[in-house]
Amino acid sequence: MGTTAEQKQRMRAATAALNSMHHEPPDGFRVVVCGKGGVGKTTVTALLARRLALRGMKVLAVDEDPQQNLAFSLGYPLEAADALVPLSRNFDYVEEKVGARPGEGWGLLLALNPDVTDVVDRFGVHLDEGIDCLVMGSVVQAATGCLCPENALLNAVIRYIRLREDEAILLDTQAGVEHFGRALAEGFSQTLVVTEPGRNSLQVALQAARLAADLGIPRRHLVVNKTRNGADREKVETFLGDDHPFASVIYLPFDERVLDTEPAVSALLDDPSPFVEGIAAIEELLLACSRSGRPAPG
Ligand SMILES: Nc1ncnc2c1ncn2[C@@H]1O[C@H](COP(=O)(O)OP(=O)(O)OP(=O)(O)O)[C@@H](O)[C@H]1O
Ligand SMILES: [Mg+2]
Repeated sequence: MGTTAEQKQRMRAATAALNSMHHEPPDGFRVVVCGKGGVGKTTVTALLARRLALRGMKVLAVDEDPQQNLAFSLGYPLEAADALVPLSRNFDYVEEKVGARPGEGWGLLLALNPDVTDVVDRFGVHLDEGIDCLVMGSVVQAATGCLCPENALLNAVIRYIRLREDEAILLDTQAGVEHFGRALAEGFSQTLVVTEPGRNSLQVALQAARLAADLGIPRRHLVVNKTRNGADREKVETFLGDDHPFASVIYLPFDERVLDTEPAVSALLDDPSPFVEGIAAIEELLLACSRSGRPAPG
């Protein structure tokens, strides 16, 4: 007996419903920070992590950049660098979990949904004041569906960390948008796109926001960092126009002290400044959005 048009229609509706449930990002503080190279993603992520921890939240800061910059920005000593191996280069862990080492795996059967619930305990760097930092390494071409062993592991890690409860998760990504895969949309409910006022980084910001929207990350905020004057602001407003994919746009001023204290950011929080006030505004916005749940459809 063949399938009727009505049955087909119902199957399609059920599949669509299952898919949307599967990709529904969780509530809670799950923020991915992205944007062009050098715009200030790591600086902003580290400051937010510090501020959230100061208000008593437990924070997991995840670094997708294999250079461990986020750990250093959070005050991890530079001389201890050798001790930090990004998960993507931890060949033993990759093999233990997915059944093949990086460089192998083509044609092998990889475990695509390994149990990685031990990852933070085993590899997280415990920083003071309630912050753990996990150096993950890059998700290479996840969007194109590359099934190499390290990607299988990193995707599983991204999917897992959203399940950690009572913890603010901040993911600092590498520059660009190529890494933006389905796993990110499954794990994160908000994205903070960082840009400078220049055209190039604004273009990347728009691209990132559109990808995030396509993947179903519901809340997208634009942070225009290193703004020097009103002309910068006008330039950004003109570029964006009225019809842009951001729920909010926040401006952070250029601040010499950020350069003076880098890579560590903690000292910046000791003195009030327009830059730190801007970070506080971003924090409030993210907290408000993470409390409010998903907007009602339609
Ligand atoms: N508001 C600011 N004023 C002045 N300098 C800033 C500001 N924000 C960030 N910087 C500086 O800009 C440089 C790049 O910042 P950061 O490393 O945070 O960028 P990034 O986007 O993470 O870079 P990458 O793409 O390489 O990971 C650093 O030297 C940092 O100190
Ligand atoms: Mg960075």
